[in-house]
Amino acid sequence: MDNDKRFVTGLDVGTENIRAVIATVNKSGEISIVGYNEGKSAGMRKGIPANLTGPAEAIDRTLGDAERMGGYDVRSAFVSINGSTVISTHTEGMIAVGAVEHEIDLEDLDRVEDVAVTGRIPANRDVLDVIPLEYALDGQGGIKDPLGMSGARLEMRACVISALTPNCENLKKATATADVEAKRLIPSVVAAAKAVLTERQKENGVAVIDFGATTTSVAVYEEGDLQYVGVVPAGSNNITNDLAIVLAISPDLAEEVKTRFVTGNFDTEKSLTIKVGKEGKERAFNRKEVEEVVKARLDEIFTEVRKKLKSAKYDQRLPEGIILTGGGAKMRDIDLFAKKVLEAAVTIGVPKGLGGVAESIEKPEFATAVGLAMFAAESADLSPITSKKSKKTAKKSSNANPFNFIKKIFNKF
Ligand SMILES: Nc1ncnc2c1ncn2[C@@H]1O[C@H](COP(=O)(O)OP(=O)(O)OP(=O)(O)O)[C@@H](O)[C@H]1O
Ligand SMILES: [Mg+2]
Repeated sequence: MDNDKRFVTGLDVGTENIRAVIATVNKSGEISIVGYNEGKSAGMRKGIPANLTGPAEAIDRTLGDAERMGGYDVRSAFVSINGSTVISTHTEGMIAVGAVEHEIDLEDLDRVEDVAVTGRIPANRDVLDVIPLEYALDGQGGIKDPLGMSGARLEMRACVISALTPNCENLKKATATADVEAKRLIPSVVAAAKAVLTERQKENGVAVIDFGATTTSVAVYEEGDLQYVGVVPAGSNNITNDLAIVLAISPDLAEEVKTRFVTGNFDTEKSLTIKVGKEGKERAFNRKEVEEVVKARLDEIFTEVRKKLKSAKYDQRLPEGIILTGGGAKMRDIDLFAKKVLEAAVTIGVPKGLGGVAESIEKPEFATAVGLAMFAAESADLSPITSKKSKKTAKKSSNANPFNFIKKIFNKF
C-alpha cells in the first residue's frame, strides 16, 4: 500500500438501496475508486431510519463487499441524509469588528456566522452546513472573501442547511451500530451534485434532482454556491405501488412492468399489450392503462419539484438546466418527460472523471455515494489506513464514542 494515499468512504443510505464507495486520494487530491457495492436497504421510511437494526444490518452487509473489493477496513464514512425535514434557510448576520482600519480575520468570520445562525434555526434542528453567499463591509456588499479587508461593520448573507435533530441522531446511531462513524451528514442531492456538476454549471445556475425510491430531492446552485435544498416526499416507488394497486398485482410484478416496459415518452407508438411474468404464468396488461398510471404519478412528482423551484424563485431561471440523478432517473426517456413538466433542459447526470474502477459506477444511482466520497476526499480529516488484518482488534479496542459529534459543522460543502 502506498503510504502517501489515504482512503475515504461515501455511504448513501437510501430507503430502497444502500450504496458504498471506497476511494483512495493522493497528496495531489486525485481520487481513485477502489471499492463499491450496492445492496438492499431495510428499516428506512421516506429517507429516514424507522428503526436502527434494519439500516445497520443493511449497511454492514453492503459495506462488507466494498471493503473486501478494496481491501480496506471502513470505520468512518461521509453519509447521506434525506427526507422532507432537510431544508435550506437564508439568513443574515451583522457584527461590529472595531475600528475602520481593522482587518477581517477568521475569528470575525466565525463570529458573524454564529450571529447569522444562532436563533435563526429552531433548536430541534441540526445545522449540517452554512454556505456564506455574500459579505458586506460597512454597507458595501458583493464581497465573496472579506479576509484581510478593512472595515468596521461586517455583514453576512448565508444559506443554512439543516435537518431535524432526531433524524440526524438516528442515522448516526444506525451507522454506529454497523461500526461506522458518520463523520458528516450531507443531503443526498448535495452529494449527487458534487459528483455530476461542473464549476461552470454551478456558476451559471443549475438544479440537480435526485429521483429516489421514496423521495425526490432538489438542489439549486448559482454563482458557484448552493442556494437551495428541498425534498419532495415521493419517488419512483410510488409509481410501482400505484401500478400494483391499479393492476391488482404484486409489487414485484409491478416493479418489473415499470423497469422493463415503461418509458418517459408517452407520445410514441408502442405495442398495445405488456407481457410479464414467468413462462406459462405470463400476465398481459393494457399499455394505455399502465401508461396512464405512470404518467399521473410522474406528473405529480415533477409538478411538486417545479413548485419547489418556483418557491425558491428559480423556476425557468436556470441557464444550465436540470440534471437528474438517482435510481428513478434510470427510466428510459425520463429526461423527455421532466423537460415537459419543468419547461427546462433536462439531462441525466452520471459521476465521471474519476480513476480506478470508477467506470463501473458511472450510473445516475451512484452519484450520491460518489459525491460523498469526493467530499470526504476534500476534507482534511481523512480516515487513516488500517490493514484488513488489524480490523477486529482495532474495532474492539476503539474507545471512540460514536455519538460524540459536533452538532454544528460549519465546513463549506
Ligand atoms: N430501469 C428503471 N426504470 C425505472 N425505475 C427504476 C429503474 N431502475 C431503478 N428504478 C427505480 O429507482 C428507485 C430506487 O432509486 P434509488 O436507489 O436512488 O432510491 P433510494 O436512494 O433507495 O431511495 P430514497 O433516496 O428515496 O431514500 C426504485 O423506485 C426503482 O424502482
Ligand atoms: Mg437516495
